[in-house]
Parts: sequence; structure tokens; C-alpha cells
Amino acid sequence: MPSRLVVLVSGTGSNLQALLDAATDPAYGATIVAVGADRDGIEGLARADRAGVPTFVVRVADFASRDDWDASLTEQVGAHAPDLVVSAGFMKVVGKRFLERFTMVNTHPALLPAFPGAHAVRDALDYGVAVSGCTVHLVDAGVDTGPIVAQRAVEVRADDDEASLHERIKSVERDLLVDVVGRMCRHGWSVNGRKVFLSE
Ligand code: GRF
Repeated sequence: MPSRLVVLVSGTGSNLQALLDAATDPAYGATIVAVGADRDGIEGLARADRAGVPTFVVRVADFASRDDWDASLTEQVGAHAPDLVVSAGFMKVVGKRFLERFTMVNTHPALLPAFPGAHAVRDALDYGVAVSGCTVHLVDAGVDTGPIVAQRAVEVRADDDEASLHERIKSVERDLLVDVVGRMCRHGWSVNGRKVFLSE
């Protein structure tokens, strides 16, 4: 049986698309059973619609508290009984309840622990690094602090701006995410402290 994935998005969803495309091959070992978002009208949800994958939206503004939002998100994700949740450009920090129930991986457009947060590409450029990249990590209660599963480096060019560097990172990031999620689903993984081991 393929692993059941719920993918969470907040924007364009090109990482989601890479997972949708990969999952059309039964040998990939995972199927995307639902796509969730924290906002309406985004391309990520349209991509799921086009692929015939069910979607749901849980907006922070619709709840009295962040905790209520987290409870609803947990319930909506749980309704699809995922083996793994993938945060692919999902711009919200989930709460304790969610993390106690699900294992989630996140993809981040920098080489963590450098440049966590929502403006990683801009921050890396402003700092003047010569190399940045992307990180797939397990999600814990912090912001981009969970154990690292895999990373790839991307060279920063002298004429890069935020958009050009982010696009180059994203083309590497999509391949990394597809590779890592597929391996986790096909072979499993284990965690020892901050180290994540993908089984062979
Ligand atoms: C990715 O670079 C992700 O790491 C970051 O936002 C971007 C999302 O891209 N948090 P997309 O929506 O998958 O195209």
C-alpha cells in the first residue's frame, strides 16, 4: 500500500506539483490523499483540483484563537488519515496538538540552521553568503528548528536578486523534496536525537 500524504500549502504550490507528478508512478510509494491550505484562491489549491485531489482550507482569521485554528487543522488533516504530512510552502507554524498527532516534514529555502523564518532567501542574500540551498527537515515546535533530513547547496551568483536565487533554489528543492519524501515512504526512517536516518 502506498503511504498516504497530506500536503499543506500557502502559495504557488510548485513543490506540491512535483509531488503530484511523482506520485502518478505507483513505484513512488506515496499517494497524495488531500491538500490543505491556510488561505483561499491560491495556485496550490488549483493544482490539487486539476489533479482530482480533495482540498480543504483552514483560515486563522476564522477562529477565535490560534489554538482553535490548530484544533480544526488537526481535525481536517486527520480526516484523511495521513502516514506523513508535508509542509510545502505552508507559511504557518502548527501547534502542539498537531505535532503530537502527525509527523510532518517541511521544505525550507536555505541551509538551516542559517536563515530560518519566512524571508530566508532575502536574508541569505542580505548577509552576503556565497552558497545557500534548501533543507528538508522534520517539524518540531520551533520555527525551522527540527532535525534535518537532507540538504542541497545552491551557489549564489553576483547578479542574483531574491527572485532569481529563489527560483534556482526551488528547482533543486523540488527534486530534493520528491526524493526524500519518496524514500521515507518506501523505506521508513528513524530519528536519534538530531540525526535522521533514512532506511535503505
Ligand atoms: C519554497 O521555496 C518553500 O521552501 C518556501 O516557499 C516556497 C514555496 O514554493 N517556504 P511553492 O509554493 O512550492 O512553489
